[in-house]
Amino acid sequence: QQENKTRDEKLQELCAYLSNNVAYYNWVGFYFANHETKTLHLGPYVGAPTDHTVIPFGKGICGQVAESNANFVVPDVSAQDNYIACSFTVKSEIVVPLFVNGVNIGQIDIDSHVLDPFSEVDERFLEFVNQEVAKLF
Ligand code: SME
Repeated sequence: QQENKTRDEKLQELCAYLSNNVAYYNWVGFYFANHETKTLHLGPYVGAPTDHTVIPFGKGICGQVAESNANFVVPDVSAQDNYIACSFTVKSEIVVPLFVNGVNIGQIDIDSHVLDPFSEVDERFLEFVNQEVAKLF
């Protein structure tokens, strides 16, 4: 019944799959960009509920990636100035932009309770994941 699932249902399952299969992926979610209002909006996610459902471009790790179009790996969030804390249990974060036809339409955001867990393997893997996600758009 795969074809009957909505895109959000597929993304929700993907978040759960990633969170369930990588021990240090503790919060996994998607933010989507509104280029008119220059804000990011929380999409499907798994993990602790967050107050940050809308993030202005430029603000926090996510907002910076909306403008830079580049991966952002944060080994230690306590060392970041422009960071939006969602939970005190979060130690590190990785954000990888999602491109559809060359346009940065959002991002996958992963928080970890572990210090410095993300390597280039995670970056390449999440770039691949986002290339697959892009096909849903
Ligand atoms: N920490 C992010 C905010 C989103 S929460 O991690 C879900 C940031 O600094 O942009």
